[in-house]
Amino acid sequence: MSSRDGNRVRIAVVGCGYVADMYRDCLALHADGLELAGVYDRDPARLAAFTRTWGDRAFGSLAELLAEPGLAVVLNLTDPENHAPVTRAAIAAGRHVYSEKPLGLTFGEARSLREAADAAGVRLAAAPSNILGEQAQTLWRAVRSGAVGRVRLVYAELDDGMVHKADYRRWISRSGRRWPAEGEFETGCTFEHAGYVVTLLVAMFGPVRRVTAHAALLIPDKECDQPVHPAPDFSCGLLEFDGGIVARLTNSIVAPYDHRLRIVGDGGVLQVDEPWDFAGPVRLKRTATTRLDRLIERRFPARKGKVVPAPRPVPFRGGRGRPTMDFLRGVREFADAIAAHRPSRMDADLAVHITEVTEMLQHPERFPRPAPVTSQVGAMRPMDWAV
Ligand SMILES: NC(=O)c1ccc[n+]([C@@H]2O[C@H](COP(=O)([O-])OP(=O)(O)OC[C@H]3O[C@@H](n4cnc5c(N)ncnc54)[C@H](O)[C@@H]3O)[C@@H](O)[C@H]2O)c1
Repeated sequence: MSSRDGNRVRIAVVGCGYVADMYRDCLALHADGLELAGVYDRDPARLAAFTRTWGDRAFGSLAELLAEPGLAVVLNLTDPENHAPVTRAAIAAGRHVYSEKPLGLTFGEARSLREAADAAGVRLAAAPSNILGEQAQTLWRAVRSGAVGRVRLVYAELDDGMVHKADYRRWISRSGRRWPAEGEFETGCTFEHAGYVVTLLVAMFGPVRRVTAHAALLIPDKECDQPVHPAPDFSCGLLEFDGGIVARLTNSIVAPYDHRLRIVGDGGVLQVDEPWDFAGPVRLKRTATTRLDRLIERRFPARKGKVVPAPRPVPFRGGRGRPTMDFLRGVREFADAIAAHRPSRMDADLAVHITEVTEMLQHPERFPRPAPVTSQVGAMRPMDWAV
């Protein structure tokens, strides 16, 4: 059975929701490498809206999709709760699977999917693939080339603002899917987003060795149109890497929007402002050493430094309703690797590792906890003049 049409790898999409439109928008960037055999969604109205928009072939069932001759890769774009069953079905049908993140809802689930794939002799990978983007590759190259010397510390923010107060009911995808707020709140912003940063850090610094985290549901009432059981809407974790590098990663849908990623080395700071914009600049600011430099840094903390040249320009334009990431970059890398019988940069071990770290960040209560603080302190009174 050939999985290639000429030079193109045949893929099929399961789940035609909000993100599927973003993936589909990127297909033209991979016309030479990927061929979409068709799509399926178990919601007939959603499937019809999607195929009407894009003109794709609709499969009548998951079984029909999985039986498609020559199909190499199943692209699982269902909501997180459905990732495991769909991935499992595709593995059982002998298909390679690229899943949206998270690979599974727990480390255990992700690991068992990897075992199933290994046993079936198929390959498995998961989003996000922003590490393959121009911005992340520029950042990584700058780190490798010693642009900031020895790296000591990383500060990463993935704060999305108070999403439940935003006008998300008007966030509509190209084929008409409303942004699935209830599902996002129940999955949790850490499970939804941490991978965008953790993947970059793991690529640059190797596997995470230890996680110390706190997570909380700060605003239980998400004011949704239907009852929801939100996951933690805030987490803050410390990730330790070999060589003593520590990364502090904050996720929330409470604090104002801030997606800065700062890599601090002896010689300076590398900064990106939006890790899911492939075209976003990487900036380098040298460590302030002189009295004047330190004064300037104190007075103008927002100064970000010089733009680091990228190895190549971004081959597409995002923004204005178009994705700022090439969502299919990871699928393409995975498909090319399968066709060439080489390891993929997006492999199952990476997906399982990211799932484990993410679970530790969002659900630290499931893992051994640090010792509680035992000393007590009374409430302080404000200064009399401030009462
Ligand atoms: N929404 C975003 O902005 C965004 C961005 C990046 C990544 N993602 C990720 O993409 C994935 C999908 O998110 P979404 O926002 O598109 O969700 P969504 O709810 O809009 O779409 C999911 C679709 O999958 C379908 N589905 C579920 N189970 C199925 C099954 N067994 N067989 C066939 N179809 C099935 C649903 O009917 C639905 O149409 C999630 O993992 C999410 O983390 C979402």
